[in-house]
Parts: sequence; C-alpha cells; structure tokens
Amino acid sequence: MRVTMIGAGYVGLVSGACFADFGHHVTCVDKDARKVAALNRGEVPIFEPGLAELVDANVRQQRLQFAVDTAAVNDAEAVFIAVGTPSRRGDGHADLSFVYDAVREIAPLLAATAVVVTKSTVPVGTGDEIERILREKRPDADIQVVSNPEFLREGAAIQDFKHPDRIVIGTADAGARAVLAEVYRPLYLNAPPMFYVSRRTAELIKYAANAFLATKISFINEVADLCEQVGADVNEVARGIGMDNRIGGKFLHAGPGFGGSCFPKDTSALLKTAQDHGVPLRIVEAVAAVNDQRKRAMSRKVVAALDGSVRGKTIAVLGLTFKPNTDDTRDSPAIPLITALEDLGAKVRAYDPAGMEQAKPHLPGVQYCGNAYDAAEGAHAVVIATEWEQFRALDLGRLRSAMAQPVIVDLRNVYRADEMRRAQFRYVAVGRPGVD
Ligand code: UDX
Repeated sequence: MRVTMIGAGYVGLVSGACFADFGHHVTCVDKDARKVAALNRGEVPIFEPGLAELVDANVRQQRLQFAVDTAAVNDAEAVFIAVGTPSRRGDGHADLSFVYDAVREIAPLLAATAVVVTKSTVPVGTGDEIERILREKRPDADIQVVSNPEFLREGAAIQDFKHPDRIVIGTADAGARAVLAEVYRPLYLNAPPMFYVSRRTAELIKYAANAFLATKISFINEVADLCEQVGADVNEVARGIGMDNRIGGKFLHAGPGFGGSCFPKDTSALLKTAQDHGVPLRIVEAVAAVNDQRKRAMSRKVVAALDGSVRGKTIAVLGLTFKPNTDDTRDSPAIPLITALEDLGAKVRAYDPAGMEQAKPHLPGVQYCGNAYDAAEGAHAVVIATEWEQFRALDLGRLRSAMAQPVIVDLRNVYRADEMRRAQFRYVAVGRPGVD
C-alpha cells in the first residue's frame, strides 16, 4: 500500500518506519527541510532504540522516503497526520494549529477517495472539525476521517508498535475500516485485537488510557508517602495489590512523579475538554495536582537526608531524563528537583547517559560530568533520579570513596536497604524503610 505520514517527529517517524517495515511504501513529510535532508542521508534526529537501524534498512529497500512537500498524499491510500499537539500556552488546551494547518495543506492534493487518519493525540471532536474543513475544501471528494491513536512508549516505541495490546480504529465507515485493516494486516497475523469504534470514542480512549495510567502512578506515590509514615514497604504493597488481576501489577512503581511528553500534557488537555463540557473529572484533577506537588517535595527528601540543609553542599544527581532509554527531559522530575536544590544553596553535579544536552538550557548552573563516579566526586549525597540500567549496579565501594559522605537518595527504588547497609551508606528510598 502507499501510505503518507504528515510529520516526521517522534510518532510519525516510528509509525512511518514500522509501516515501511511491514512492506508498505511510505513517505514521511515534514516542513523542516534540514530534518528531511538528514533523514534521507540516514541520520535519525531522535533517540529511540532500534529506530536508526529500521529507518536505514527501509530507506535502502526503497520503501521509506522523506520529503518536504506534500505531493505524495495524492496517490496515498492512507494519509496519517502525526504532527505535534503541544499544550497551548496559558490554558492547557491542546494546541491544534499544526493539525489544522496540515489538513488545509493536504486538502487540495488528496485523491477523490481518500482516508485521512489522525495519529496525533487530539481532543474529542477534532475529527469532526477535520472532516468539516475537508468537506469545505473538497466538496468533490469522498474523504473519510479516522481516529487511530498511538500508544507508544518512548524507549520501547518499536516494540509497542509491532506488538500492540490493541489497535483502535475510530470510524463508522466500512470502506475506511477496510483500508485501516489492510494497513495493519501484517500485525493481524500475530492477532492483536482490532477494536472498531466511533471516531469520538477512539479520540477519548487515548486520553482515558493515559489518564488512567497516570492515576495508577499518583495513587501508588501517595501510598508510598503513607508507607513512609507507617513503616510499610511500597514495593511489596504494589506487588501485593498487583497480584489481583483486577488491579494488575504494572504502572505501580512509586517514584518522583511522572513526566515526559504525554502524561502531563494529556491529563491537562483532558481536564480542559471535561471543563468545556461541564463534566468535572475530579480524580484526574487530583492526579495532576499530586504529581505537581510531588516533584517539588522530592527536594525536601534530599534536604532531610542531609540533616536539614543542603546549603554549601554538593549533590550528585544521576539521571536527568523523565525515564530511562530516552534523551527526553520534558517535564522530567529531575529538573524541578535540581532547581529547588540550587535555590536552597546546593551545588549540583549531574550525569545522564543521553539527556545532558537537552537538560543544559533548563539547568545552566549544573556541573555536567562524564559518568556516575565522576558526578559523585566530593558529593555529600548521590540522588538517583532516573532508573537507567547503568545506575542499577553501581560499584558502591568506588562510589563511596569518591564522595564526601556516604548518602544515597534513591528516588526510583532501584537498590535494597540491606546492600546499602553492607556498603555503609545512609540510604533513603521512596515508600520503603531506608538505612540511617
Ligand atoms: C506514555 C504511555 O505509556 C504511552 O502509552 C503513551 O502513548 C504516551 O505516554 P511515555 O511517556 O513514553 O509513554 O512513558 P511511560 O513509560 O508511560 O512513563 C511515563 C512516566 O511515568 C515516566 O516519567 C515514568 O518514570 C513514570 N512512571 C511510569 C512511574 O513513575 N511509575 C510507573 O510505574 C510507570
């Protein structure tokens, strides 16, 4: 099949490369000429495990190409819109200007029968507006607008794309359903459920899924706070409740709060949609508020571990990205943590395997280091802010001898208290007993 992807950002690039890998002929269109030129040279501008190899292989097989102009839409059987929908400055609504600009641009070029599919995360009703624009610009054509949300995690996006739990197809039109079924047919063979629903339902499924996952995280984070007060262990509480199939064990890791490009933005956009329709979503409101407060509260944990003051002390922060296996620092809990520590008079040294360049503009005062041990040099405490694999098995003896005093604040619960006791660290974790 011929597929066009509008937008070669994170979602567009991963989806485009995977569709090409299925055997479709894919053109990814992006306005950024430098990005397009780099991609055509095989240079992938984002950090995602396996993506560069996938792009390279499919470009070589001539199933994947990149272009600045939208001409390719004209013979595409499916045109996917995968442009950004950032939070609109000031009000938290999703900014849909990139989506509508793309629709206006492709409208005159679309074939007389075409299927336009939104992959971008868009509020309920956006598909209706896209349809209105297309009808107005192309009264001659029979164009179907479908919602097909993505559920890709950064760092595991290719795996998620190729082994989805479900594929949500939002349209009532039988012809459009058949086109989408054909696009995803190679996946079908592994039998992931294709879930056909109305367009508005599909749009809402995406937001409800992210809001629910965020709810699990804020829930377990509050339970972690309670565990600290009553002397329980949140990891065991999470396992104990997760063994109940109705609850499920995933997304119950207590930590410094969720970040990234999706959960904060999507919970806020869902709240705006709910307000616009006069429906309070009080649980989601609480989830967002708990998460915001939590990020700030993490600095207090570090202060407490250092007997009430960080002034004049050196803190080593390991991990700046919002989670491992990404270079993305958007809404990362490490950033407000470090800013707060600096405000309280600490000097911060930091190391991250991939996110230091992205962090620099937000954290100009930090001393960036070459590895974890270098960051720990002269530090009064090491704070583990992101659970990168390489921070899970640090040489504790080496770490300790680099530090001014042996204190570890483990905001991702990657270590056990008994190993910290043996290595003679003061150890503070999240929702679990530590070592004094
Ligand atoms: C998420 C969704 O998982 C994905 O389906 C959606 O399409 C986009 O948003 P992503 O933002 O890449 O993906 O990361 P995810 O792995 O979901 O983690 C989000 C944040 O939650 C991270 O900051 C992570 O550290 C935090 N988290 C996750 C927890 O604190 N505890 C958990 O148990 C799980």
